[in-house]
Amino acid sequence: MTLPLAARTSSIGESPTLKVSARAKALARDGVDVVNFGAGEPDFDTPGAVCDAGIDAIRKGRTRYTPVTGIPELKQAVADKLRRDNGLEYDPSMIVVSCGAKHSLFNVIMSLVDPGDEVVIPSPYWVSYPAMVQYAGGTPVFVESSGASGFRIAPDALRAAISPRTKAVILNSPSNPTGAVYSADEMAAFAGVISHAGIWCLSDEIYEKLLYDGNSHVSIASLPGMMDLAVTVNGHSKAFAMTGWRIGYIASTSSSLVKAVGNLQSQSTSNPATPCQYAALAALSDPAMPDTVERMRSAFERRRNRIVELLNAVPGVKCPLPGGAFYVMPDVSSHYGRTVAGVQVADSMSFAGALLDKAHVAVVPGVAFGDDSCVRLSYACSIEQIEKGVAAMAAFLQES
Ligand SMILES: Cc1ncc(COP(=O)(O)O)c(C=O)c1O
Repeated sequence: MTLPLAARTSSIGESPTLKVSARAKALARDGVDVVNFGAGEPDFDTPGAVCDAGIDAIRKGRTRYTPVTGIPELKQAVADKLRRDNGLEYDPSMIVVSCGAKHSLFNVIMSLVDPGDEVVIPSPYWVSYPAMVQYAGGTPVFVESSGASGFRIAPDALRAAISPRTKAVILNSPSNPTGAVYSADEMAAFAGVISHAGIWCLSDEIYEKLLYDGNSHVSIASLPGMMDLAVTVNGHSKAFAMTGWRIGYIASTSSSLVKAVGNLQSQSTSNPATPCQYAALAALSDPAMPDTVERMRSAFERRRNRIVELLNAVPGVKCPLPGGAFYVMPDVSSHYGRTVAGVQVADSMSFAGALLDKAHVAVVPGVAFGDDSCVRLSYACSIEQIEKGVAAMAAFLQES
């Protein structure tokens, strides 16, 4: 007998990025030599000082519940970071630490979005934004962009997507999946549109430390009229190679939003894991950390340069140069309609499936991010893996 589930469960499926990663890992466990461009996490180890702080916390017995929204020292360190790096003045009471930025975003979206509300999301988008909005009963409204515009939307297109039912806009610069970075001028134009409309802006800044070509990061909350409308979202996963520690946070001047998010957390997960909070504190306060982060950033920049160069040399592949994060989003649609290695390639899903099965290269189909002409590759892997994987992809595409 199958008993019914809640109707809302039908609006949510497994994250396609985690699914590809899991499939690639399963193949690797079976002894297949897979090049995995699917993963959305740095391949670097968590810095030693951070690990030591986590171990030290466990040894000192810091293994009990903490205040739901995080230990005061960590919230103070986050407030200091936001002032130092982003020019934002948040009191620690305006900060909620959660179990990863994904959890932070979920809490905020659940606290802001009612059934019938619209949330504007630039496309291609990170897969979990529309999934969370739909889970809350809201409707995602996409603003399309393409590789030709560097996957950046125009402020006028944002304005045109806003309706009387719009509750929020989600911005993510640098972006997953495209690596697109908005300039200070573009951010100022978005701020003008958003403040004129008087709607919330969720600013997901998780890739802020991974910027190339001298790009700099602009937190939209720092722009005129935005401090009370922006909810700044960030976390430790990408900047500090701390994906498994699950630490993210929000900052907002809205005491009612901060309270709602805290209440939701208090009735669901309680505090983020206690030793991880102490490790997160070390990541923000260790004086050697900026150099460590810079070493990882510059390694990513070298990998980005190599992967873009190699991909653009593959016949029928067009890859824009992204300004940040660790993803590229090449257009592979010129291969659709072909039979490659005996497999019909019709779209990004069949392209990615055939590439994994026949060439043992894992990429994520662009359709998962709202752009079926592309696939997403993460270059959070060594240059050797990049060279090997793109060579295997090129050889695969030469087959008929
Ligand atoms: C755009 C974006 N936001 C948020 C997250 C969530 O990161 P975490 O929950 O590990 O902090 C990710 C992770 O892939 C991401 O790519």
